[in-house]
Order: sequence, then C-alpha cells, then structure tokens
Amino acid sequence: MNLREFEELAVSRRATRHFLPDPIDIKLLEQLLDIARWAPSGYNIQPTHFFVITDKKLKDSLYPICMEQSQILEAPAIVVFAGDRRAAENNFEKAIAIDLEQKAITKEYAERLRGFVTLAFKQNPIGINWFWKALLIPIVRLFRPIPLIPAVYKRNWVDKQVMLTAMNFMLAANATKLSTVPMEGFDEGKLRKLLKIPSSFTIPVIIPIGYSATTDLKKTRLPLKDIIHFDKW
Ligand SMILES: Cc1cc2nc3c(=O)[nH]c(=O)nc-3n(C[C@H](O)[C@H](O)[C@H](O)COP(=O)(O)O)c2cc1C
Repeated sequence: MNLREFEELAVSRRATRHFLPDPIDIKLLEQLLDIARWAPSGYNIQPTHFFVITDKKLKDSLYPICMEQSQILEAPAIVVFAGDRRAAENNFEKAIAIDLEQKAITKEYAERLRGFVTLAFKQNPIGINWFWKALLIPIVRLFRPIPLIPAVYKRNWVDKQVMLTAMNFMLAANATKLSTVPMEGFDEGKLRKLLKIPSSFTIPVIIPIGYSATTDLKKTRLPLKDIIHFDKW
C-alpha cells in the first residue's frame, strides 16, 4: 500500500449512523479484530478485550444504555472495547514469554522491561516486598525517568491503549466494505453490568459495525495549519 492509498483509506472512513439490515460474516469480523490487536501498547501489555454483540435481545437492552442511538439497533454487530486495568499483572509475563520464545526480544531487554514495569505499575500494597518498593520507588525515580502509573491513573493508561486498537479496527473495517461508528455515548456502569464485565475493566468506546445505509457522508477537518506546531507553541 502506498501513501495515497493509505490516505484514501483514512479519509474515507466515516462515522456511520445508519446501517442496512444485512448480517455480517462473523469470520470476517474475527479477522478484523485479529488485525486490530496488532495495535501497539505500552510495554506490549495489551490490555484490550473485545466483546462482540450480535444477539438481538442483548442489543435491545443496550439501546437505552446507549442514549437510544439508532445505530445500536441497526448495526448487525457491536464491538465493545474494554481495557483491563490489571493487565500488567495479568498479561505482562505472558507477553514476555511469547516474545522470548519467538526471539522478538533478548533476555537482557526482557529484564530491563521487568524492571520498568515493576516500577511503573506495582504501586499497590501487594507482594511481600511492597513496603520496601514503596520506599524505594520515589528514590529510584529521581535517577531514572520512569512513568508513574498508579491505580488512580490506570484508567487513562488503559483507555489510551484501547483506543489505538479501536482505530486499527475501524481502518481495517474500512478496507473491506464495512462501516463503523465509534461511540462514547453510553452508561459505562450499566453496560458493564449488562455484559457481566469485571469492575477492573474500563470501557472507553463501543463500535457498531455493518454495511452503511447512507452514501455520500461528508466530513471536514480543521485546517492543518491551525493545529500543527513545530518545536514550541
Ligand atoms: C471517542 C469518540 C466517541 C464518539 N461517540 C459518538 C457517539 O456516541 N455517537 C455518535 O453518533 N458518534 C460518536 N462519535 C463520532 C464522531 O461524532 C465523529 O467521529 C466525528 O463527528 C467526525 O466524523 P467522521 O468520523 O465521520 O470523520 C464519536 C467519535 C469518537 C472518536
């Protein structure tokens, strides 16, 4: 793919609010999600989970939770993008093991990553050495620039990662004849309850997907010159 083709793909993606009743191939949807998961994530921790909703009854229950937005009822499938706030604990060692096995990283780099992730994420009083870590971390941080991601900021961290996956998904969908719309207009607590998603997960975005019932969706953007800054403000 050259730059022109990529530009065409990115620019032609539209937030689509009306869908045809045609079903979508679940195998194709799985393929799109398989592509979406190649989005980058901090320390390759990969906190994103996908919940695919096609059941009509479930969609009916979703509708009032999503501010009665019509795309919920019209789209043949809805993907709920959720982020695991406990992903550092749940995924990090798993991901490192795969990286090592496939020789994607060296043992030395794995050790370095372990050091970073421990310092960046493990702020809670868990594990035998938490007291010493709690004492040590602020001192180490004086000498090594390590991002601080305590529990209170985990939501921001997780949501950032999930949104990259969501963008990959929308672009991949656009490379087929499928259309999408990213949505933040929903009650997260009620959605979590409906889908029985654990409270340690955030849900930054949900994306209905299907075949567009609207042609000629136009959108504009602010001029690049208003938002581009070279070096300082
Ligand atoms: C994080 C996010 C949340 C959004 N939430 C909604 C939503 O709840 N309902 C909706 O109809 N559109 C929603 N949109 C779509 C935007 O309105 C749309 O992307 C924007 O107007 C630009 O249009 P375009 O995507 O067609 O270029 C959302 C977009 C983003 C990025």
